[in-house]
Amino acid sequence: MDRWFKSWCVGCGKVQTVNSDRQQKASKAVSGTRRLLPGMKVGEGFTPHPFDLEFGVRTSGLIAGRHLKSGHRHDRQSTAYYGVAPSVFQSMVVRWRRTKPVGPIDVFTFVDLGAGMGRAVLLASEFPFREAVGVELHQTLAGIARKNAARWRAQGRAKAPMRVLCKDAVEFGFPRGPCVLFLFNPFGAPVLRLLLKKLASGLTKRAVKAGEVDILYVNNEHEGVLERQPGFIRLFQGEVRRSRADAIADHKILANQPDGEYATTNWEDCSIWRWSGPNKG
Ligand SMILES: C[S@@+](CC[C@H](N)C(=O)[O-])C[C@H]1O[C@@H](n2cnc3c(N)ncnc32)[C@H](O)[C@@H]1O
Repeated sequence: MDRWFKSWCVGCGKVQTVNSDRQQKASKAVSGTRRLLPGMKVGEGFTPHPFDLEFGVRTSGLIAGRHLKSGHRHDRQSTAYYGVAPSVFQSMVVRWRRTKPVGPIDVFTFVDLGAGMGRAVLLASEFPFREAVGVELHQTLAGIARKNAARWRAQGRAKAPMRVLCKDAVEFGFPRGPCVLFLFNPFGAPVLRLLLKKLASGLTKRAVKAGEVDILYVNNEHEGVLERQPGFIRLFQGEVRRSRADAIADHKILANQPDGEYATTNWEDCSIWRWSGPNKG
């Protein structure tokens, strides 16, 4: 995620006021992760996202890729941990539904490759997917995502069942049936290339029909890798705007980084891709 967030275009509007009790609770909620994950201390710029304050989950924080050490050889390709802006996620699902998927949403399994603390999985579960699955390489993040899923379920917010696996995205065995794969710029081009090669070869072997796998790519820094991978066609490419509340929240979070490593815009460059069969795309 070195050039993940480009320049910040200051969104105007009211800064959301946050109840200080809730802010303290959110701060306490991350205390268990403080020793393990740099970037999760208030002194390191930790700022809770309003999503967590509203729903009592733990998805806030910006953890640089170099701090996400799981021991796997793909660690060095990890961009960073940062939760997707809820408004961008929801806009992408709406856009995807307009692309005439092969079936109704309830036949699709949603898979977040690089699920982090599970914000996208929680949001996906509000749609009636067959299942919402998170795949996360870092054990601590996967553990937090599971706890978040339990809280989300307990609040009755989930329409779809949720599951979080701690494993490398490249090693994930894709489920049978239509799938929507979600990528929020989780890793560098070498891992994305490997993942797509393995995916395309599996789909070809299983003679999976066109349209049965769609990819939603947010902050599509390595778009060129998808362009060069035979078998996928692009259905959408463009900027997806954050809501004003998300833009303000992300700006505030990014402005609090001690070393100013990352920047943000008030939109994300995104694309949507569809499996079209091995000889097309
Ligand atoms: C930008 S965060 C996205 C979080 C989540 N998808 C969301 O939208 O809220 C990227 C995540 O990908 C994870 N990651 C990086 N490389 C991975 C790999 N090879 N397999 C699985 N997860 C990976 C990182 O640990 C990080 O949590």
